[in-house]
Amino acid sequence: MEIDGAVKLVVGATTDALKACIATHIATAARSAIAQRGRYILALSGGSMPHTLTRLITVPGVDWARVFILFTDERCVPLDHEDSNFNACNSAFLNRLPIPAGNILTIDNSQGAAEAIAQDYEKRLMALLAVHGTLSIDTVLLGIGPDGHTASLFPGHALLCETKKMVAGITDSPKPPPERITLTYPALRAAQEVVFIAVGVAKASLFKEALCFSTTSVDGPREEAESAEAADCSLITATIRENLPFPAFQVRPASGELWYYTDREGASFLPAHGLSQTQTEKMGTGFL
Ligand code: 6PG
Repeated sequence: MEIDGAVKLVVGATTDALKACIATHIATAARSAIAQRGRYILALSGGSMPHTLTRLITVPGVDWARVFILFTDERCVPLDHEDSNFNACNSAFLNRLPIPAGNILTIDNSQGAAEAIAQDYEKRLMALLAVHGTLSIDTVLLGIGPDGHTASLFPGHALLCETKKMVAGITDSPKPPPERITLTYPALRAAQEVVFIAVGVAKASLFKEALCFSTTSVDGPREEAESAEAADCSLITATIRENLPFPAFQVRPASGELWYYTDREGASFLPAHGLSQTQTEKMGTGFL
């Protein structure tokens, strides 16, 4: 059974093309949010994602002073620790963007255990959103783990049933380190848009299990061209199967768009690496 409502899968023919597409997507969302609401609130994840965001430092026309950064999940380690998601994002690209330090919401480890850090983070997140007159993050960027987890929401974990907290502590994460904080389903689903970035062959079987494609699932243009490399991305419309055991595919924004970005390896379950002419449209002339 499929849900109503299409999701969009973008396949980058090369790593550079994928990075260019992702950077353009975020820059476009940022410019639009800043034009309409005076600020852009972006949530980042860890894992391999920071390395897919490096092209953000080249995008023009974003008023970075009006951009606010938070983390979908964070490991309870010092901010300069090699396991810190902030540290990974900071060294990959954040430290080269003129975002005021006060606009970056990092965890406060002095709060104590994971749950106390989570409560403090939730308080500061809600205060940030309230100042900007909203209850939702503009763009949530998420990864997908090989077991189908996202942020620090793992298959079968009690946190999947959380309905009240926006941020929760976890002390038994199957992916090390075990102590983390994570945004919950309610916080993630309230976002204006959710964008998954999941690359590599390990994601192909998850996408195969989760996504359905119609033979006429060609989508049209979305954005203006910003780079020639981005022309090597293809856009495929899909739907998500129901009753999947993977938390990643349970994160669907209540309103707003849901995107998946992957590379040729991640899309290798599709015929011709997902680039079949009957199913896709090159994004060069319209999308980017
Ligand atoms: C974390 C991440 C986590 C990650 C996935 C995918 O802090 O561990 O936020 O949810 O996004 O595990 O990681 P990869 O992109 O490395 O596969």
